[in-house]
Amino acid sequence: MRVLVTGGAGYIGSHTCVALCEHDFEPIVFDNFCNSSPEAVRRVESIVGRRIPVIEGDMRDREALLDVLERHAIEAVVHFAALKAVGESLSCPLEYFDNNITGTITLLQAMQAKAVHRLVFSSSATVYGGAETIPATEDSPLSVTNPYGRTKLVMEQLIADVCAADAGFAAMILRYFNPVGAHPSGQMGEDPKGIPNNLMPYIAQVAVGRRDKLRIFGNDWPTPDGTGIRDFIHVMDLAHAHVAALRGLPRQAGATMLNIGTGKGTSVLELVRAFEMASGRNVPFEFVGRRPGDIAELWADPSLAQEVLGWRAEYDIERMCEDTWRWQSAYPDGYA
Ligand SMILES: NC(=O)c1ccc[n+]([C@@H]2O[C@H](COP(=O)([O-])OP(=O)(O)OC[C@H]3O[C@@H](n4cnc5c(N)ncnc54)[C@H](O)[C@@H]3O)[C@@H](O)[C@H]2O)c1
Repeated sequence: MRVLVTGGAGYIGSHTCVALCEHDFEPIVFDNFCNSSPEAVRRVESIVGRRIPVIEGDMRDREALLDVLERHAIEAVVHFAALKAVGESLSCPLEYFDNNITGTITLLQAMQAKAVHRLVFSSSATVYGGAETIPATEDSPLSVTNPYGRTKLVMEQLIADVCAADAGFAAMILRYFNPVGAHPSGQMGEDPKGIPNNLMPYIAQVAVGRRDKLRIFGNDWPTPDGTGIRDFIHVMDLAHAHVAALRGLPRQAGATMLNIGTGKGTSVLELVRAFEMASGRNVPFEFVGRRPGDIAELWADPSLAQEVLGWRAEYDIERMCEDTWRWQSAYPDGYA
């Protein structure tokens, strides 16, 4: 099956391209490289031993999308392309709404025009906002606390409405918890531009000597060690969830929301300690105040994904840290 992978040069997209190739899908990458490097796709090619078509283009360019859907006879789309930094979304909300929502509308219009009716979409546990129920199930109350989260919720609803209006259209909406880790080869991993927004790349950059110390936001949360608890999931487990979702789409009608997590919570301090063990390096840290909008703890109930897709996470925290360190220590400056 030929699959258009929007944002396929990004962190999760590039790892998913590896998994797709290994399961006989043909990924075609569409990316404007606003937060990624073409080198990531070259690494995918070297791991899978196959050439991957790459189209440099923007999600808001309808003609470019129509052209790629037709020219490559695309049968399904995995839609990763989005801006994703919560803090940045607070200072430039319009950019986030335009990039993420206009980009998704343009994609859906192009898919309709070219009769491509299968979509896997990257959503986020951020749609559970204040996390009123833990573990979060797909029926937990939805709320958002920042413009990035709002774009994810609007995109989910847009896709569900398109599926409701067009019986032929089917979508898997995957709500990722906290993706971390790297390809086991150490050739690919997360390579954020500038200061990392996420915890794991920050820890890895401290361990490798690129940054002095980690700042941990709050040690007075109502959790056993006072730091926040999240559901970290290995990026290759996540990549395999996309393979399972593409395989499951023909059996599914409408839009199906699925939690993609491990179902286990790990605290920030536990992750730091696991990383120190895996890397043999110290990770100096300091506690600073809580960030507005943060929550004490959140992890997934991933049982629906197992039921619908036959998928579940395989890798543990130790493996997530080992694979991250293999990548970060081999490539301290990422793909640069
Ligand atoms: N990484 C996480 O912690 C996380 C958690 C939950 C959900 N998600 C979602 O998963 C998806 C992928 O995340 P990621 O971590 O791989 O991010 P990423 O920034 O590494 O990848 C996103 C890719 O999309 C591309 N892109 C962005 N806007 C584009 C546009 N208008 N046109 C073409 N390409 C564009 C970027 O260049 C990048 O290659 C995003 O939708 C993100 O919101 C990520």
